[in-house]
Amino acid sequence: MKIGLLGFGVVGRGVYEITEKRDDMQVAKVVCLEDVFLPDAEVTRDVKKVLEDDTIDTVVEAMGGLHPAYEFVRAALEAGKNVVTSNKALVATFYDELLPLAERMGVGFRCTAAVGGGIGWLSEVERSRRIQTIHQVGGIMNGTCNYILDSMTRLGVDYADALRQAQKLGYAEANPATDVEGTDTWHKIILSANIAFGVSLNRDQVLKAGIQNITAADVANFTARGLVCKLVSTGKQSDGRYAAYVQPTLFPVGTPESAVPLNYNLITLIGDVSDRMSFFGQGAGRYPTAYNVVQDCVDILSGKGFYCGYGRKVEVDNSDKLCYYVRGEQDAWLAEHTAGQWDGAVVTKPVSVSRMHAWLADHPGAFIAALA
Ligand code: HSE
Repeated sequence: MKIGLLGFGVVGRGVYEITEKRDDMQVAKVVCLEDVFLPDAEVTRDVKKVLEDDTIDTVVEAMGGLHPAYEFVRAALEAGKNVVTSNKALVATFYDELLPLAERMGVGFRCTAAVGGGIGWLSEVERSRRIQTIHQVGGIMNGTCNYILDSMTRLGVDYADALRQAQKLGYAEANPATDVEGTDTWHKIILSANIAFGVSLNRDQVLKAGIQNITAADVANFTARGLVCKLVSTGKQSDGRYAAYVQPTLFPVGTPESAVPLNYNLITLIGDVSDRMSFFGQGAGRYPTAYNVVQDCVDILSGKGFYCGYGRKVEVDNSDKLCYYVRGEQDAWLAEHTAGQWDGAVVTKPVSVSRMHAWLADHPGAFIAALA
């Protein structure tokens, strides 16, 4: 396999280092803006040198961001090259275009490193689908948010300090609002559900609530009741109905989710044969992420170009009812749905996920967390 590598940052450099030691693949060209010298690969700023090179059969996109990654990946597929990417925003946003295009062109298109970093989550979902129907996917998918929540809960660190530290450690996205507002997890659950259920969710209907408004007082409230807050995604299918959302969720101490430390991820599937299976590991970082990019290249070499075929577009119905912790301005709806008071906050009666998120949209300074 001859690889054209787009990007030579955290992930790109890791891919280069891992493939250097292998006989079955070689990074032939690297497209990046930095002045890098590599003994065995041509470095260029011109993507056409990769796209128009017929000896390059696979493009690894490790640039991140939507543009120009989208234009480059699309052009690579149109040029008949396999594509491997770790870019969750790109694949979740352009799923309906890129997957059918890859299928039409008869090339491979894989993105295992896009969800869970070094955890072989999407490739395990692919294997799982061979013998069972998956009913539910989701879990802790963002290392930055887990790091912040864990630091606040276990060490009493202030939110802003914990976020700064997560940025310093290289876990956060270029714009950390993407992490704390739940967008990164939103991309990851869309991708996971699409692949697990073999469909394409209507993205506009997938809901998200983040952790950006959590305070030390909220955390104290949870600790006093033996609860731990985590940012969690959920994707479900049952009898042709699909649900998908991202939201802070409270887990009793002693549950696996409550114990996930630092920047780790814990992602779970529930299938009709296997029942519940969870996958734990490093959700970000150079070598864990590059490991799964190279695994995808090996999978393509062994004939596994796709996780699943492009499925039909489906509507999302988030009418599931849950109880929520809510701290924010009171109003008539909240008063009518309050079941109890928790030191400056309320706990609701069961309300639909969609109604609770609609309330949050009208109260942007509030913080909500579902009771698991
Ligand atoms: N910002 C992401 C995270 C990186 O914190 O999980 C890995 O996708």
